[in-house]
Amino acid sequence: MERPYIICHMLTSLDGKITGDYLEEERTAYFIDEYEKIHERYGCKAWMCGRITMEEHFTFGHKLDLTHENIPTIPRTDFIAKTDTKSYVIAVDPSGKLGWTKNYISEWNENRTEDHIVEVLTEQVSDAYLDHLQKIGISYIFGGKEQLDFTIVVQKLKKLFSIDQLMLEGGGVINGSFLNEGLIDELSLVLVPIADGSSNSLTLFEASSHIQKTKPVNFDLKAIEKMDNGGLWMKYVTRKE
Ligand SMILES: NC(=O)c1ccc[n+]([C@@H]2O[C@H](COP(=O)([O-])OP(=O)(O)OC[C@H]3O[C@@H](n4cnc5c(N)ncnc54)[C@H](OP(=O)(O)O)[C@@H]3O)[C@@H](O)[C@H]2O)c1
Repeated sequence: MERPYIICHMLTSLDGKITGDYLEEERTAYFIDEYEKIHERYGCKAWMCGRITMEEHFTFGHKLDLTHENIPTIPRTDFIAKTDTKSYVIAVDPSGKLGWTKNYISEWNENRTEDHIVEVLTEQVSDAYLDHLQKIGISYIFGGKEQLDFTIVVQKLKKLFSIDQLMLEGGGVINGSFLNEGLIDELSLVLVPIADGSSNSLTLFEASSHIQKTKPVNFDLKAIEKMDNGGLWMKYVTRKE
């Protein structure tokens, strides 16, 4: 395969919500913990999240002050800061909003290891942001001029970083784009036995302005495990039409 095998690993309520008040219930803490253990168990070399998830769980909304002057134009070519690392985290951040100050993730969230950060950008990003990433040693790749083409992005991840297995870990918007581009090979779902019941919580796969037309995608059940506390871990593989 020219691209990594892609596993979408997510935690949902009984009504398919990935956000909502059910995440704050005492009972859910056990499942969040199990979700992290399954992440480890897969042992993928890389995992990926959208900008909003990264901001919520990793950079915690930290903003950079990049109002320096005299930043020369930086060519829009991929920048590889590190390839001798065990694992990578891939941040989909088309216009360069994430306020990273270190080039590895454990600095931001103790649940994760020293994964080296790779930013996925469009050419619309500012020179100041590229300069900042270079200075702190964060790798970046371009996925398009104005819009991201994830097929190109994942091919680059394989070619430039030898990533053979990628774990896609939300949120709903990025998952929806991958589903739509036929880029999900496997779905790993931790099902929490609570119905969220809210209509404005996000679902597993969201439609967005990035997608012109949605289409249903078929999956086949690969494995199912009963968890303590009434939950399920379900593994599905995408049916290749
Ligand atoms: N339950 C779970 O297992 C789980 C896992 C992960 C996340 N979550 C939750 O999901 C929520 C966030 O989900 P979300 O759907 O709002 O956001 P998201 O998918 O995390 O991030 C969306 C952002 O990523 C960039 N992006 C994603 N797809 C793109 C595309 N096709 N083209 C260009 N840019 C793209 C855009 O950034 P810009 O806006 O900068 O252009 C977009 O706004 C959080 O509350 C998080 O806690 C839950």
